Amino acid sequence: MRTIVALPGDGIGKIVLPEAIRLLNAAGFKANYVYADIGWDFWCNEGNPLPQRTIDLIKEHKIALFGAITSKPNSEAQKELSPQLQNKGLVYFSPIVALRQIFNLDVCIRPCISFKGNPLNFIRKNINGSYDEPQINTVIFRQNTEGLYAGVEWTNPPKQVRDAFETHPRMKYFKDVPSEELAISTRIVTKKASEKIIRAAFEYARKFNYKNVTLCEKPNVLRETSGMMLKIAKEISKDYPEISLWDTNIDAQMMWLTKNPEDYGVIVAENMFGDIISDGFAGLIGGLGFACSANLGDKVAIFEPTHGSAPKYAELNPSIVNPIAMFLSSVMMLEHIGEFHIANKIRNAIAKVVEEGKVRSYDMLKLKGGKDVFEKGACSTEEMTNAVINNL
Ligand code: NAI
Ligand code: MG
Repeated sequence: MRTIVALPGDGIGKIVLPEAIRLLNAAGFKANYVYADIGWDFWCNEGNPLPQRTIDLIKEHKIALFGAITSKPNSEAQKELSPQLQNKGLVYFSPIVALRQIFNLDVCIRPCISFKGNPLNFIRKNINGSYDEPQINTVIFRQNTEGLYAGVEWTNPPKQVRDAFETHPRMKYFKDVPSEELAISTRIVTKKASEKIIRAAFEYARKFNYKNVTLCEKPNVLRETSGMMLKIAKEISKDYPEISLWDTNIDAQMMWLTKNPEDYGVIVAENMFGDIISDGFAGLIGGLGFACSANLGDKVAIFEPTHGSAPKYAELNPSIVNPIAMFLSSVMMLEHIGEFHIANKIRNAIAKVVEEGKVRSYDMLKLKGGKDVFEKGACSTEEMTNAVINNL
């Protein structure tokens, strides 16, 4: 039997992941789940949010489901270390960003596909006077290991770094800034990883009949990094004559996605831009409670909702958060390992629950999350799972 590594992490990750496993079991997916340590508690108590034993388990079993983690800036992270670990020079890092780099999970796929009954009230209701619900069918390909999230950054950069930057003509505008007042985050883009993510986007578009691939960058300003990606995209697009290559700027894309989101099929972007675009499209399909993702490498694959640990909802009992993003991430896992029958069964059950609209979590009713959401007709996390299970 297959073993899946379960990485609940922090906050609502600890709520939605076990619910997904309950659903997978109910749908007849046969697997063992081995729970592994990751997240804030392990930072505070061990000084490492991603213990080696967890990395070893993922290396061994290759497939993982991940909930969410809490990340805080280093200054705050230091204060929460246990007393015996203080002042040891430990530096906090995001364990999920680290996992993507350690296992070279360089292709991140984030489908934003709306169900019928998409709870979102749309802006064009006011413009057109009728409720014209957009059918969103956009899949974002996010480069997952480099770009602005490569992690190569400094506050008070060491002298060699400062000197190296000084050789750039534009540094003349910053030459009077004292080093301790200077922070630098680099945007690293490589040809190899860009080719991989752009080709993956085109292959996906071909396989699932999308008519366009949009490279969403900012080559007019980020001439080196975005410029390189655009050049590569133009080259690769020649192998896909049936698919149009569009290129948009990230700022304009934010406007297009509110104005005519149905136009976009596959979108490909660098790490940070992909993160931003996918949250934008997530809003159009009902919010983060619906946004799923796959982090794919050549050997390892990790599936996770794109939301974080939502700490303000983590302690509510019964829980009110929407587990559907975690469910859809599990469906992506099933498809990845070839379990299409069970994947379809779960997806159809979710679609039915959303379309019927009898069971809705607070976010689907556009309520502010709080204890009173049940009185206003929202279901609990557990009731949502039960509803999906009852529709399998
Ligand atoms: P978040 O995604 O945790 O929550 C933002 C808001 O989205 C919530 O307040 C809630 O209104 C809504 N939301 C999120 N998930 C939901 C769900 N399943 N059902 C219903 N509503 C949901 O982002 P936030 O508040 O910016 O970050 C909280 C923590 O999570 C931070 O420590 C952050 O670093 C971390 N984070 C971790 C990520 C990961 O593990 N991959 C990704 C994003 C943030
Ligand atoms: Mg994000």
